[in-house]
Amino acid sequence: MSVYDNVLTHKGFIHKDDLNYPFEERGLQFGDGIYEVIRVYKGQYYLINEHVERLYRSAEAVKIEIPFTKKEVFNYLEELLLKNNIKTDAKVYLQITRGSAPRDHAFPLNTSANLYAYVQDLPRKMEIMRDGVAAITQPDVRWDWCYIKSLNLLPNVMAKQTASEQGCFEAILHKDGEVTECSSSNIYLVKEGKVYTHPAKKNILHGCVRMRVEHFCKEKNIPFVEEAFHVEDIQYADELFLSSSTAEVTPVVKVDGKPVSNGMVGKVTRKMQEKYEKDAEINEAASIFAKEV
Ligand code: PDD
Repeated sequence: MSVYDNVLTHKGFIHKDDLNYPFEERGLQFGDGIYEVIRVYKGQYYLINEHVERLYRSAEAVKIEIPFTKKEVFNYLEELLLKNNIKTDAKVYLQITRGSAPRDHAFPLNTSANLYAYVQDLPRKMEIMRDGVAAITQPDVRWDWCYIKSLNLLPNVMAKQTASEQGCFEAILHKDGEVTECSSSNIYLVKEGKVYTHPAKKNILHGCVRMRVEHFCKEKNIPFVEEAFHVEDIQYADELFLSSSTAEVTPVVKVDGKPVSNGMVGKVTRKMQEKYEKDAEINEAASIFAKEV
C-alpha cells in the first residue's frame, strides 16, 4: 500500500517526495526517537487521545521535546486525513526523533526534533481475525523500558522474522518463561472465564487496544487479571488472543506447533472482538461476525 502524498512534518505539510533528511539524523543513526501507529476506520481515528497521550509519555521518558502542543498535534493529525481525502480504513505512522546533528551519543545542543507522519491504506485483516493465527514463543531480549514506544525495534524485528520464517504471525515473548507481550502486540490468556495478561509495568508497551480490552472485560463482567502467565500455562489455556492497533483482537489458535485448547476460537475472544467492533463503530457490513457462516 503506498503512502498518500501529503505528509506532515515539523515544518508543515509537504509532498512525500520532498521529505528529505541528512544521513546524520538521530533516528537513523541511534534509533533515537519514538513513534505511534494510529488506526483509522472509514476516515475516522480510533483511540487518538490514547495514542497522543502515549506519544507525549514516550517523549518525556526519553527527553525529546515535541515541537507542537497536544492540541496542535490533534489538529495536524486531523488535517493529515483531510488533505489526503481519507475515507477508507487506514493507519497513520507518526515518528519523532531527537533531530539532525553530527553523530555523537550525547544529546546535541540547539537541535530540535524531526517529525513526520504519513497515512497509508490498511484494510482490516478479516481472515486472521476470524480464524486465528499461529505463534511461536521466543525469549524477550529487549531492554527494561518497553513502555516507551521507541524506534529501537531490532529485538522485535528479529523475533517477528523468526516467527515469519516458521509460517507464524507472531512471536510471544517471555522472560525466563514469564510471558511479557508479543513482538508487536499485547497478549492475553483466558482460563476459566478470566483474562490474564502481564501488568502494565515498564517492561511492556501499554497498548491502546489493551486499555480497551480491560474496559470491555469490565463491561462484560469478565475478570481482567493483571498477572503474568507463563509459557507452560499455554498448554492449559482455554483461549489465547492478542491485540494491537493493526491486528485489533486476533485469536491465537496454535503455539509452537500445538493447538491452543481445541484449536478453535473461544467465546471470550469473540466477545472482545464484538466489543471492539462496536467501540470502533465498525458497521455491520465490515463485521467479522457478519461474514461468519
Ligand atoms: N505495535 N506491544 C508492542 C511491542 C507493540 O509494538 C504494539 C503495537 C502493541 C500494541 O499497542 P497498541 O494497542 O497501542 O497498538 C503492543 C504497532 C502496531 C506497530 O509497531 O506497528
